[in-house]
Amino acid sequence: MNVSGHAAIVTGGASGMGAETARALTAAGASVTVMDVQQEKLLQIAGQIGCLAVTCDVTSSASAETAVAQAKDAHGAARVLVNCAGVAPAKRIVGRNGPMPLEDFKRVIDINLVGTFNLMRLVAADLYAEPALDETGERGVIVNTASVAAYEGQIGQAAYSASKGGIVALTIQAARDLSAKGIRVVTIAPGFIATPMLLGMPEEVQQSLAQQAPFPQRFGRPDEYSKLVLHIIDNQMINGEVIRLDGAARMQAR
Ligand SMILES: NC(=O)c1ccc[n+]([C@@H]2O[C@H](COP(=O)([O-])OP(=O)(O)OC[C@H]3O[C@@H](n4cnc5c(N)ncnc54)[C@H](O)[C@@H]3O)[C@@H](O)[C@H]2O)c1
Repeated sequence: MNVSGHAAIVTGGASGMGAETARALTAAGASVTVMDVQQEKLLQIAGQIGCLAVTCDVTSSASAETAVAQAKDAHGAARVLVNCAGVAPAKRIVGRNGPMPLEDFKRVIDINLVGTFNLMRLVAADLYAEPALDETGERGVIVNTASVAAYEGQIGQAAYSASKGGIVALTIQAARDLSAKGIRVVTIAPGFIATPMLLGMPEEVQQSLAQQAPFPQRFGRPDEYSKLVLHIIDNQMINGEVIRLDGAARMQAR
């Protein structure tokens, strides 16, 4: 689909890949709503881009319902959803202080996996009530963000890997579920992308991670992610697939 003139929602839009994707979608002519829990940063980014900011905690059904309704009031039903909200805390299954607190595991699953599903279900439901965009029957596109940790989780990534593996598994299933109404579901599994999530790690960890990509031997850039999002939206044959964006990197255990 051509995104120009259509509404789009980007979660995790206050930072990193979400903010960059909101910028790219706006430049492509979409009416974008960015959603995030970081209210101040969200307003700042939205002001820079010239898009709508709506505070939203993706783990809450009430918060997401209100936020999606606000976005719809402003721009109409979103034809594009990009799920970028996520967290990546590191903790071993059994650490110095004993087993990982169950709440820590649940929190990551809740934000990364449940949050992705939460927005997906609401945006898809709105699209069911919208007319098709053209004679192919296409109504919209949902892009989720997994991680290469879904396949090769490093030490300390139990919760993160499990949450991203859930997003990978959901991709073909959701594409099948929503195919009746012409809604595509595609997931990007990034490797190491230079965003606040990654740049917050110690320098030596960053060095070691960057060297794990055979070529190019550097971190990816947020705009390399947003370019792929725009291509997925444009290319109707991409559906039910998980695309790695990683410079051929395969993560080591640590
Ligand atoms: N940076 C990388 O190397 C990398 C690699 C693989 C996957 N990813 C994934 O890409 C996505 C974007 O990450 P990023 O690197 O841009 O990170 P980031 O930390 O820059 O952005 C993530 C955003 O999600 C928001 N967020 C967290 N919890 C939320 C909640 N409950 N409700 C709404 N928003 C919430 C944060 O406030 C933040 O603005 C994440 O899902 C991340 O797991 C990142």
